[in-house]
Amino acid sequence: MSYSDTKTGSERTMKTHTRATAKKRLEDLPAPRALPLLGNLHQLDPKQLHAQLETWCQELGSTYTVKLGPKRILVTSDVEMALTALKDRPGRFRRLSSIEPVSKEMGLNGVFSVEGEAWRPQRDLVMRAMAPQQLEGFFPTLQLISERLRQRWQRSADAGTDTDVLQDLTRFTVDTTATLVFGKDVNTLESGEDAIQRHLGVIFPVFGYRINAVLPYWRYFKLPRDHQLDRSLKAVRSFVEEMIGHAREHMRRAPGEKPRNLLEAMLALRDEPNSGFSDDDVYANVVTLLLAGEDTTAHSLAWAMYILAAKPELQSQLHRSARNALGEARVPVKFADTTKLGLFEGVAFEAIRMRTVAPIIFLEANETTELAGLEIPKGTAVFLLTRPASLDDNNYRDAKAFTPERWTGPRDSTREGHNTKAFLHFGAGPRFCPGRYLASLEMKMVLATLSRNFSIEYAEDPDITKEVFAFAMMPNRLRLRLSAIG
Ligand code: HEM
Repeated sequence: MSYSDTKTGSERTMKTHTRATAKKRLEDLPAPRALPLLGNLHQLDPKQLHAQLETWCQELGSTYTVKLGPKRILVTSDVEMALTALKDRPGRFRRLSSIEPVSKEMGLNGVFSVEGEAWRPQRDLVMRAMAPQQLEGFFPTLQLISERLRQRWQRSADAGTDTDVLQDLTRFTVDTTATLVFGKDVNTLESGEDAIQRHLGVIFPVFGYRINAVLPYWRYFKLPRDHQLDRSLKAVRSFVEEMIGHAREHMRRAPGEKPRNLLEAMLALRDEPNSGFSDDDVYANVVTLLLAGEDTTAHSLAWAMYILAAKPELQSQLHRSARNALGEARVPVKFADTTKLGLFEGVAFEAIRMRTVAPIIFLEANETTELAGLEIPKGTAVFLLTRPASLDDNNYRDAKAFTPERWTGPRDSTREGHNTKAFLHFGAGPRFCPGRYLASLEMKMVLATLSRNFSIEYAEDPDITKEVFAFAMMPNRLRLRLSAIG
């Protein structure tokens, strides 16, 4: 089924499910041993939530329940179940209901968190702005930012110093997303000024923590991290308001001109009579895109580099491939060049498959319903685990092997030994990630630039690098040594 016909698809599934008789209840599913009152809370470290849920998935099977205090949560890595729930939004399923209030109190209730009918117009706007054809016009900027990253890495290679890869990649994605959204070149890669990046970096993990918090203590008293969050939110707001001021000024001076960036497009829409959009919606969506576009792509790239550092032969193959595609150029110079970078896209997808930044998609049932013969009471949280299916040999031949070539064949679900439906790392259905083309383009650009110009090795014991869950799954640290190659 294509994503365009999800609406009728969801209506169809709803009818079928209403007719079917539910066979099982949540209580009938396997579950790890729970304590009275606490449930499984004592076994769940928020920073390792994904790892613990994946371990239980191996022990208990693909579908089981856990108890967070008194609440019973459905956890599944079953692809068909996940797809049914993901596609049936905003119908039978929604994002976790704690997400919207937490986003609202941060002033960030944009397309990611908003639910019901209010979500559609925001989604349409973001989809238009992020369409693949828009990205072609954005390419020169992406090229400029890639060149800056290359120069930064060149300085580090010349000096023989270790490179804090996470920091560099986050600067790259902040610069990229800010230019796309505001048309403003914040240039954190060269300026040494990383205020906006630091503030965004504070918001994302606290958001992740709060949506699964059993007690919303911050509504009654604040810990140091909550005060830090307030300072960061204030700093981001004043930065975005300054951008809104510039955009408004330009729109006043050039009335009727086509919007030059996403912010101008949102403001134009907000100004239409009965648009239903408020200034707060504009602000929330701008920050949503900055947040959604920053850590996800930067951390996926960091994982790709972590994996490549252990594979000198693959690095040599990628260097040859980059030379073939780019010739003497140091970064991709034309949008058309990016079509020659299939192998780099393969590296990106393999890294995402094995070290997904989105190991859990948090949903909730809007109504008492049935999923694959299982009765799910209204309000049940459903945690979809995306990685187990990705590492299953039934979905990918020799699934534990890092094989970029598995992505370079013809694009259809019949690709040999490869079940494309099992790749849930950008979600699925009507709320599928609208940033996937941008993310894929950014990753190709960075990986081709890296491979064309540098080889990489670990600057410290690779085992120091650990997976940490903070809404996105990131490496706790990553220091590499880069060496220039001709
Ligand atoms: C490797 C990079 C990325 C990954 C793995 C990723 C993953 C995801 C996932 C799993 C979702 C939830 C989808 C669902 O519920 O079905 C999502 C939603 C979203 N992503 Fe991404 N994302 C990435 C990059 C980006 C970028 C670059 C942007 C924009 C600049 C972006 C913007 C969004 C937005 C706005 C949503 C919410 C869509 C909605 O609820 O309608 N993402 N992403």
